[in-house]
Amino acid sequence: MKNNIVIIGFMATGKTSVARYLANELGKKYISTDEMIIKKVNKAINLIFEEEGETRFRELEIEVIKAISKMDNLVVDCGGGIVLNWINVARLQEKGIIILLTASVEQILERSASSPERPLLNVQDAKEKTTELLRFRKPFYERAADVSIDTTNLKVNDIVSRILEIVKAKD
Ligand code: S3P
Repeated sequence: MKNNIVIIGFMATGKTSVARYLANELGKKYISTDEMIIKKVNKAINLIFEEEGETRFRELEIEVIKAISKMDNLVVDCGGGIVLNWINVARLQEKGIIILLTASVEQILERSASSPERPLLNVQDAKEKTTELLRFRKPFYERAADVSIDTTNLKVNDIVSRILEIVKAKD
């Protein structure tokens, strides 16, 4: 049975707040792929990108997803680029319902402005970069998702209520 809930989506679409709230509501364990990577190599995400490069970061994502795919009763908060390697999606699908959170470019920029620790958006023209990454990634997100929720203008508890309805309907 699929007893994990996997939250995917672009940076700053609300994954972390939603996943924490949802885990609490369902009595499941919250787990973040970014936090697992930070613990594994004892280095901040920014520094991994800077010193070892994005390719190394993606390898680390594959390693932590492999470990996560053996675990049960989780709400998994995935880094925005997890879907870029299909092996991650295939492993997450084995035990999890995959929920995609989306948001407008404007809200992504608003929400990410206050968190400069995202190396991919730490560029001069964050709007252009966000638009370009979203265009490239859209098919990856859509192919991976069982369900998609547009979080633009929604509060965390509204998003969680929708997810709870979806999860109940699938039970
Ligand atoms: C990334 C998203 C980040 C983090 C890293 C790369 C991405 O996680 O994994 O900076 O490629 O979209 P969040 O989506 O939680 O910000």
